[in-house]
Amino acid sequence: MSTLTTRWTPSSWQDLPAKQLPTYPDPDHLKRVLNRISGLPPLVFAGEARDLTEQLARVSRGEAFLLQGGDCAETFDAGGADITRDKLKVLLQMAIVLTYGASMPIVKVGRIAGQMAKPRSEPTETVDGVEMASYKGDAVNGLAATPENRVPDPDRLERMYHHSASTLNLLRAFTRGGFADLRRVHAWNQEFVAESPEGKRYDQMAEEIERALAFLEAIGIRTDADPTFNTVDFFTSHEALLLDYEQAMTRQDSLTGDWYDCSAHMLWIGERTRQLDHAHVHFLSGVHNPIGCKVGPTMTPSELLQLCEVLNPGNIPGRLTLISRMGVDRVADVLPPLLEATRDAERNVVWITDPCHGNTITSESGYKTRRVEDVFGEISGFFAASKAAGTVPGGVHMELTGENVTECLGGDQRIADLDLPQRYETACDPRLNNEQSLELAFQVAEMLRG
Ligand code: PEP
Ligand code: CO
Repeated sequence: MSTLTTRWTPSSWQDLPAKQLPTYPDPDHLKRVLNRISGLPPLVFAGEARDLTEQLARVSRGEAFLLQGGDCAETFDAGGADITRDKLKVLLQMAIVLTYGASMPIVKVGRIAGQMAKPRSEPTETVDGVEMASYKGDAVNGLAATPENRVPDPDRLERMYHHSASTLNLLRAFTRGGFADLRRVHAWNQEFVAESPEGKRYDQMAEEIERALAFLEAIGIRTDADPTFNTVDFFTSHEALLLDYEQAMTRQDSLTGDWYDCSAHMLWIGERTRQLDHAHVHFLSGVHNPIGCKVGPTMTPSELLQLCEVLNPGNIPGRLTLISRMGVDRVADVLPPLLEATRDAERNVVWITDPCHGNTITSESGYKTRRVEDVFGEISGFFAASKAAGTVPGGVHMELTGENVTECLGGDQRIADLDLPQRYETACDPRLNNEQSLELAFQVAEMLRG
């Protein structure tokens, strides 16, 4: 059976081949957990997902810009309020730098509140001579390197649900309850970032914004009473890898009768699970959320157009975001024919760049890392290719954190290989720290202006 002919139901993906899914030792245990999850409330609502689709439609027309970012892999341990608050702070800072710098509305989507399952290149690894399954994210198994800990445990799916619910609750409170008030724009600058060149540049911009707000007040506009000034729209997203969980979270909208995956506003298909006739593509073809698909260097124009047809047969603007992740050395060669293909076929898509996953390297001392200059270089290559093709550079998809970690090389802090062990805390891929993220926002704002 192929994804093109299978009639879609929330469970029809089960008839298709699927890559990267965990094998649980006790299928009955899995079934019991999934049954319970099916009975839990949705985390997001269909109307919110439709709202995001509309905002992304504006992105596809070049009227707004998408900022999508967060951890490579969230963990159960990092569930405290501080980490979530700091991540939101850095995303709000980046968004305001982009809004102010490029005079463009920014659509804000976190890799957050459910980004807990990882596809892996290698199914197993050997640690101190012992072979064990690879870590596949806290939603599947444990990071600590013992064979027992790496056995997939269905109870982790339920923990992910509850962890996502509490993170989302906090995000809703922060973005609606005053924290995201534009008059607090100064307060988003974290103490240790404030002294950096980016922090100072940010403070200057914040002062200008405060002056502009004071001016609005002076001419009689009540900024405290207008939600435009004191709330932000913030959406959630994650890779839709664990289809059992996504199916259990898929509900029929009472208003339209359409199916929505209510685990997050936006879901994406990873580079390793984007086979046209496989389960992941088929599953996401049937839910009405806005969806994304990673597009790596082996994608061909004809395969891409088929993917657009399967995932967005109605050519609805905002429905499909293509996330280019080519690597700094390849973007100039491989991206242009793909941009031209969707352009010539008049496909309504949002094209964005993930400048992280094509630029992962192992440092001399053995750390999995990325060079900030490669990340910036791929973004710049993406903008150049978009300009040449006459397509809209719609956004950036980033792995970042609000913490002052040392996981990526370079930037104004000039983090070197020997600095990496100071605060290397990621459970999976290296993330830009708060300062590097802010630096990136200023650079992207300039590219957008240019
Ligand atoms: C990711 O976004 O964490 C990821 C695994 O990306 P990709 O599918 O592009 O490799
Ligand atoms: Co990653």
